[in-house]
Order: sequence, then structure tokens, then C-alpha cells
Amino acid sequence: MLITADPRLVLPKRFLFGPGPSVADPRVCEAMSQPVLGIRDPVFIKIMDEIRAGLRSAFGTANLMTFPVPASGSGAMETAVVNFVPPGSKLAVFAAGHFADRMSIIAARHGAVVVRCEKEWGEVFSEGEAREFLERERPQAVTFVQAETSTGAYQSGHTIATAAKGVGALVIADTVTSLGAMPVELDEVGIDVTFSCSQKGLSCPAGLSPISVSPAAWEQLLRRLEEPASWYLDLKLIAKYLEPPHVYHHTPSPPLHYAMHQALAVIEEEGLENRFRRHRRAHEQLLAGLEELGFEPVVKDPAHRIWHVTAVYPPEGVNEAQVRQRLFERHDIEIGPGIGKLGGKVLRIGTMGPLATEENVALLLDALRECL
Ligand SMILES: Cc1ncc(COP(=O)(O)O)c(C=O)c1O
Repeated sequence: MLITADPRLVLPKRFLFGPGPSVADPRVCEAMSQPVLGIRDPVFIKIMDEIRAGLRSAFGTANLMTFPVPASGSGAMETAVVNFVPPGSKLAVFAAGHFADRMSIIAARHGAVVVRCEKEWGEVFSEGEAREFLERERPQAVTFVQAETSTGAYQSGHTIATAAKGVGALVIADTVTSLGAMPVELDEVGIDVTFSCSQKGLSCPAGLSPISVSPAAWEQLLRRLEEPASWYLDLKLIAKYLEPPHVYHHTPSPPLHYAMHQALAVIEEEGLENRFRRHRRAHEQLLAGLEELGFEPVVKDPAHRIWHVTAVYPPEGVNEAQVRQRLFERHDIEIGPGIGKLGGKVLRIGTMGPLATEENVALLLDALRECL
């Protein structure tokens, strides 16, 4: 027996101003109601090819091995680990937030030797710090989080990638939050392997996560002697489906692919640079409004702030949980709590995709003022 009174779902409309999931673009929602196609239907294969092209452009890469895996961002993170961090190999993690910690845990569970270069949450790493650490540790792979959603800090990765190349290490970047809203620039930065998600900057639901692998990293994967510990997340097997004869590995979800296809089409129509500018303007408007209300950004240096996830300390005497509850109950607005070390201490506000407009930021600030 279904527990809903009406067997058809009629759901409330919320403003998802959290750090993700973000509001899905209306075209994405419409696409998901299209007919389910078979996995070798030429129309479905074309959709997959176009998704791969759209992802290459959003990632800023020419990597042919760019495609989605059937997982949320954490599953994609685990995919990067099982394929590119063999048991017993050394992984250097640049850690200044919750998601770098998650990467460390996943890699350790898969038998990697994890060494960590740690800084205060909200800070980023200089080239000197990265070089000194990597020359000492000499790891096989290096990882960092380009947009650390737990703190609101953005680190393009140039400094880390340059230092990693100096010791011949593979560069793995978490672009779960940056993709689709801020520059990722895989090729320019020198990132070998990246994983992302669908439910933040791409304005899709969760469930399908883009991965991109450079030709050199793919060669390294092909040369690897032992099989990755996960069959489901084995990129060599997944990739066999991408080109003729489209060998079956797992059954892809058509609605999630239609969603990603339309999300990328929307991005292409707006233009990446325009989209970045729109997110940046929304962030500046939001932060100015928040500072007027007495909030303080976690990330001190404006150059290192994520544009579409703003983490702030509330003013003295303001209870963050109460603010979130009031926003939800009175205005159907969801914003995010702090996580990990910053749990109970900060609020995280996302202004992504359709919500990154002057009008929507003004609506949020008005509601927030009323809920303090
Ligand atoms: C930077 C970062 N990495 C990884 C993840 C994990 O992604 P998911 O929640 O989709 O599994 C998140 C989720 O917020 C994230 O922000």
C-alpha cells in the first residue's frame, strides 16, 4: 500500500538555495518525461555522444574519455580511486575541508597509503606548500578539491598540478561543485583525472556523474596489471559501451541521460563565460546582502571564494538551525547547514543555475531578513 493519499505524486515547490542539490532546470525536468529508449537505440547513442561532447566543453578538455558514470559524486570519487589509486600506492591529499577528508577515507579503504597536507578549513594551498610537501612525500597520485563545498573555498589547482608534475604524480581533482558554474579548465590546469556530479552546477537531479580522463592517465589505466577492486566502477568496462559495438556493461538510466543532455544544451546556449559571470554576480550580490545583515564569510580572500556556494558565520546570537527552519517553513526555502568541523557553526547558501539571478537573490535576502 502506498502511503501517499493520492497515488499520483503532487510535490511542493521548493527553492533549493543549499549547496546541492540545486533546482533542476525546467528543460531538464521536461526532458525526463520523454519515452524510455533501449540502450542501443541510435537516438540514445546519439544523446550519449552529445553528452560527452557537452561535458568536454564544460570541463575545458579535449579528453575523449569523458563520460558519465551511474553514481552520485561520491560514487564518482570512488570510481577515480578504484581505477587510478591501486592498493599500496601513495596518494597525497590536499586537505582543508570535508570532501578532501572523504577522499582520504575512500582511498584508505581501498588500500592506498594516504598522506595529507593539511590547512585550516577555508584556506587554499600555495605552490610553495604543494612543492615542499610533494617533494618530501613523492606520491604516485595527488588529489585536491577544486570547489570545497564544506567551506566555500575555490582552488583552481594550477599550483598543485604544477608541483605534482614536478614529481611525476597523477593529478586527480574533485570538480563535483565547480562543473557548470565556475571554470574547471582541466587541460589548462593540468588535471589528469576528474569526477563531478549532476545536481549542482549542471542543474540536474543526482544520479549520473561525469568523469574525464586524460590520454596519458587512460594509457596508465590500460597498463595496470591487477583489476580494479570494483567491477561496477571499472572504467575500462564501462567505456566499452561508448563506441561501436556498444558492449553492454550496466543498464543506463535514460531519463537521467536526457536530463544531462538538456542541462548541457542549456549551458551551451547561454555560453559558459556568460554562465560563470551570472554566478559571480549573484554571489557578489548575495555576499553584500549577507554582510549587511552581519554574516561573515568563512573564506577570507575574495579571490578564493566559490561563486555559487557561499559559506558564512551567522551574526552573534543568531541560531543557524532556527534560521534554516524558519526559511523552510515560512518561505519554502532550503539552505544548507555546516558539515564536519563546521557543523552547527555556519550556513551554506547555493545560488546555482536558475536561482543565480538578481531577482532570486533579492527574494532570498528578503526572506532571510525576515527570519533572523
Ligand atoms: C566537493 C564535493 N565532493 C563530493 C561530494 C559528494 O557528492 P554526492 O553527495 O553527490 O555523493 C560533494 C557533495 O556535496 C561535494 O560537494
